[in-house]
Amino acid sequence: MSRVTEFKTLLHKQGVLLLNLDKPPSTHELIEFAQEWGSPIEELNPRVKDHVSQRYVLNIRNSLSSTKDFNLQPFSGDFITLHTESSASPDSLKPNYLMLYCKDSCSNNSAYTLLRPVLDVLKNLSEATRGILSQLQYDYPGTSCILEGTHLAFRDFYLQSMPWRYLGKDIRNPEIINQAIEELVFNMYRQDPFYLKWQKNLLLVIDNRRWMHGRTVLARSDKTNTRHLMRIKMR
Ligand SMILES: [Fe+2]
Repeated sequence: MSRVTEFKTLLHKQGVLLLNLDKPPSTHELIEFAQEWGSPIEELNPRVKDHVSQRYVLNIRNSLSSTKDFNLQPFSGDFITLHTESSASPDSLKPNYLMLYCKDSCSNNSAYTLLRPVLDVLKNLSEATRGILSQLQYDYPGTSCILEGTHLAFRDFYLQSMPWRYLGKDIRNPEIINQAIEELVFNMYRQDPFYLKWQKNLLLVIDNRRWMHGRTVLARSDKTNTRHLMRIKMR
């Protein structure tokens, strides 16, 4: 894992970096590599504790049945809607970077990771919607606004409703806020995302503020499905 400076330049420029490692790193080496991009964030969510190794690494394998719990979706075969990671968390727990390493892949029934640049999502938004999103937060403690400059912190809640609070004083009709959210979601899916098909030893680093990610359906299939991604969040 030399050439780190070159990798950093690429990541800074594009917000995304994809490497094909020549040999599998240990979990410890993976954490050390993550430290090149920032401080790894400990996986403290009790809902995922059974999937964590060495405090920072989330092991994403298909081991659970379908769920509506966003926390557990990575471990089910469900599709995952486009989102930035930890969009509902307080700023101190929101990762700037995400690292995903493919420890094992599966030729059949293996899901694609979807990647969509935030700039592409924002470019067709109306000025009015940008203004609204810049003053709109999830209605959870400690969250910041959904849009800050060109950085987005947002998840498509799909069939669930998104609890929000609007900080501005200029809009009283909640329908206008809901329409702004719909416009954002429409633009997230307006164009095809990039589809990443995982192979063993691929390593992806993305800027979580500049790229949204998601996943296609991971068909649940007995023991032949060996797909195993290891994820580290960095601040
Ligand atoms: Fe995610």
